[in-house]
Amino acid sequence: MSDPVIQSLRARRIWDSRGRPTVEAEMALSDGAVGRGMAPAGASRGTREAVEKRDGGSRLGGLDVQDALKGIRAEIAPALIGGDPFDQAGLDRRLVALDGTPTLARLGGNALTAVSLAALQAAAASRKVPLWRYLAGDGPALIPLPEIQIFGGGAHAGRRTDVQDFMIVAPKAKSFAEALETTAEIYHAAGAIMAERGLAQGVADEGGWWPAFSSNEQALDTLMLAIERAGLSPGEDAAISLDVAASEFGRGGRYRLGLEKRELDRDGLAEMLIDWCARYPIVSIEDPFAEDDNEGFRRFTAAVGDRIQVIGDDLLVTSAGRVREAARERTANAVLIKVNQAGTVSDARAACEEGRRSGFGTIVSARSGETEDTSIVHLAVGWGAGQLKVGSFSRSERMAKWNEALRIEETLGHKARFAGMDALPARRRSSKRAL
Ligand code: PGA
Ligand code: ZN
Repeated sequence: MSDPVIQSLRARRIWDSRGRPTVEAEMALSDGAVGRGMAPAGASRGTREAVEKRDGGSRLGGLDVQDALKGIRAEIAPALIGGDPFDQAGLDRRLVALDGTPTLARLGGNALTAVSLAALQAAAASRKVPLWRYLAGDGPALIPLPEIQIFGGGAHAGRRTDVQDFMIVAPKAKSFAEALETTAEIYHAAGAIMAERGLAQGVADEGGWWPAFSSNEQALDTLMLAIERAGLSPGEDAAISLDVAASEFGRGGRYRLGLEKRELDRDGLAEMLIDWCARYPIVSIEDPFAEDDNEGFRRFTAAVGDRIQVIGDDLLVTSAGRVREAARERTANAVLIKVNQAGTVSDARAACEEGRRSGFGTIVSARSGETEDTSIVHLAVGWGAGQLKVGSFSRSERMAKWNEALRIEETLGHKARFAGMDALPARRRSSKRAL
């Protein structure tokens, strides 16, 4: 029998975890295999990300995606039907060429992301293997270290804190399952503390507790308390990871901490973060400076990069070229990988591979606007990224992903290799303990 070809491509509007419209693509192959891709959506986006196509106007806040769906039906489907679903690189190149703009603004990064993921899922379904296995081939699969949000601030919580994510990692965990158990204890301890203080106000966009604090540092102190309340030792059983998402409150080397009503320059912000690194068991900091502040990133990485993972998210926007530049200029030592920042699976994979070649930590990440789609877990395992970030420990668009990782770990059984703390670049380079 000849190899299956792409038979049809449908597009439909679905709704994301914030109740906003997003794009779903569904690809069917001639052998009956079907794959679905859903576009997530960010709230604290980098300016160099692939552009989302939204209808604008007043309906649904201007966020409807009818034009993006039309592009899939009228242009993308005719271009792909009859083609080879197993040539992901060729298919993705085709999508990018068809768009024809450097930012993917014409057909939309959201349309391309959904179609690219749908093709990948259809190909794996046709081979009758789980997506992670399809991606890993005969190579080893690596179960990632999860970083999990406890408090969610910034653009995900009405800017109640300036720092966007207060997360934990479980350094002693021997498996993904164990890391989740540690997290569950801390998440609920943090919730209990907030309730006792009369500060329980529900959860932020990624499921972390709504951060009703009077300073950013109070969130860190409460996190420490939650770790202890869970009967765990801060730094040993649970370490801290932050996403500062500084592009949201800084530009031109100046940073405005709205919660604390003060403004810092580049040096002031660096001083504050370096001080936090000395006083709290922090192992990783994402976007400590704004996307336009290469100098801030460079100085910060020089100061703490031997001990601390410095992740570029808005800075690197899942671009292989920008990762290469960052490795050369030493502005970061890790890269966040989001398929919809790049616009296609192949470009995201290229950024991940470039990161690995540069000795960077590589973290596959969800967005704050998510769906029930669990593809990113498979990407993290199949690409051997080593780390996974999908938000907090509540809301089913998040839990669906953690739970999927548990299933994969169980499937692998004794062959499961858990990345653990070795996934952090600082630990690879330094003989000192990271804490
Ligand atoms: P997002 O942010 O709201 O753009 O998805 C997530 C992040 O900054 O990592
Ligand atoms: Zn980020």
